[in-house]
Amino acid sequence: MSRVKGFISFEGIEGSGKSTQVKALAEHLRAKGHNVIETVEPGGTKIGNKIRKLLLEPGNHMDPMAELLLYYSDRAQHVREVIYPAILDNNIVITDRFIDSTVAYQGYARGIDLGLINTLNNIVIPDMKPFLTFLLDMDVEEGLRRNRRAQKEDRFELETVEFHNRVRKGFHQIAYEEPERIKIVDASLSVKEISRKVIEILEKSWH
Ligand code: TMP
Repeated sequence: MSRVKGFISFEGIEGSGKSTQVKALAEHLRAKGHNVIETVEPGGTKIGNKIRKLLLEPGNHMDPMAELLLYYSDRAQHVREVIYPAILDNNIVITDRFIDSTVAYQGYARGIDLGLINTLNNIVIPDMKPFLTFLLDMDVEEGLRRNRRAQKEDRFELETVEFHNRVRKGFHQIAYEEPERIKIVDASLSVKEISRKVIEILEKSWH
């Protein structure tokens, strides 16, 4: 899979502040004259929003394979309806979560075979991955506390701390394997400091 220059993703555990940073980076790039599309997984399309509800509703006891395939249904729709067209139209696309979330959550935390996830990646999104991925990294319990304070309690937030620690370790492993693409940023810093670091990394990688 080749890295696509106008395509950036943010990844991280619950409460790591991804959506705030997606907005901040998009505003920065727009001020520099770029056309920027902000998007999210799951739920970057109308169909995706319905899938998101199924995936995140707390009472749903979902089989891990059903869960995995719903994330890929969302992604298949998302890449074809939003991401590919936007990139072809010379926009910069910034997504709040992408393939690395599946590897970390369904692979490392739920225990689904990583080879199977890789095969699905090759089928659903052939030949495309982000040019840069910012991994906002912080303590799991602090992240979960942040979300509870914001009254965000979906099916994943109700998982155990051990589950979320496996997610975090999974992200670390992915970042270790792809240091060129994935940049770890300390998410315990202030919003402004994180944003400054993100811009600094982006500018270095683009030149
Ligand atoms: P968020 O948009 O609030 O981060 O919620 C999305 C949830 O879905 C979050 O708990 C992570 C989870 N998720 C997966 O488990 N696998 C995936 O592939 C994606 C994109 C998200």
